[in-house]
Amino acid sequence: MNLTDRIVVVTGGAGGIGAALARRFAAEGAAAVVVADLDAEAARAVAEGIGPVAHAAAVDVTDEAQVRALVDDTERRFGRIDLFCANAGVTTGGGVEVDDAGWDRAWRVNVLAHVYSARAVLPGMLARGGGHLLHTCSAAGVLTAVGDAAYTATKHASVGFAEWLAITYRDRGIRVSALCPQGVDTPMLADGIAEGHLGARVITASGAVLTPDQVADAAIAGLAEERFLILPHPEVADYARRRAEDPDGWQAGMRKLIRRLTTRQSPR
Ligand SMILES: NC(=O)c1ccc[n+]([C@@H]2O[C@H](COP(=O)([O-])OP(=O)(O)OC[C@H]3O[C@@H](n4cnc5c(N)ncnc54)[C@H](O)[C@@H]3O)[C@@H](O)[C@H]2O)c1
Repeated sequence: MNLTDRIVVVTGGAGGIGAALARRFAAEGAAAVVVADLDAEAARAVAEGIGPVAHAAAVDVTDEAQVRALVDDTERRFGRIDLFCANAGVTTGGGVEVDDAGWDRAWRVNVLAHVYSARAVLPGMLARGGGHLLHTCSAAGVLTAVGDAAYTATKHASVGFAEWLAITYRDRGIRVSALCPQGVDTPMLADGIAEGHLGARVITASGAVLTPDQVADAAIAGLAEERFLILPHPEVADYARRRAEDPDGWQAGMRKLIRRLTTRQSPR
């Protein structure tokens, strides 16, 4: 897909990667970019910064009625949706001790919201014979997010769901891409780095922390090539290969990295 004259929706568009995607889609010539977010004021600021092709929308992606209304409103206003980016995501920053409300929130934002948007946009896309779904998953969806059990489990589920969509709908004109960055310099990771979270330290030790604009560049290239797996950090492909070929060896390597990082941090 190239973006010229496209109608695009980006959830989680008010910050980080979503805002960078929205800006980049507009720069590539999209006819309309709907910047949708729980934070309506921030979405409005991003849309205003982009200019007249951008439109802000308030949405809680965990509420199916709101997602359907976002899709219906966009289709009514612009006639269609060519590209829907299910990008909003949340971390929990904990392990098995995280309460059910935390697990539920991760499941609803990181997975169920992708089901809601696919359910809402697919009928129109299938009727028109084409469309593209870009799901922001994570390298955590093909590897593991050290220190965040619910993030790991739900991001794996999001990659699984995207793959299911790709296999099921590709021959009916629907393209699906799973965007799986590792570390990206957004509030989600910056907070973890500032607080010294082990997960954030593992991420920074495992590769470059990219800017959201660099992730948008990778997304544009992946969309142009209609690739399923978009890996802004190429090293993630090697990690995933190693993990698939030798799961025990890969886990041993992860444990060694964690030991190295935690030992270095301990007071002498
Ligand atoms: N930052 C990273 O290192 C990193 C790495 C891999 C994947 N990701 C993924 O990229 C995506 C974007 O994350 P980011 O780093 O830009 O984080 P971010 O926190 O900067 O932005 C996330 C946006 O999603 C919005 N959002 C959260 N819950 C929502 C809801 N229920 N409804 C609507 N909007 C909601 C937030 O308001 C925010 O604007 C997420 O799916 C995240 O998991 C981030």
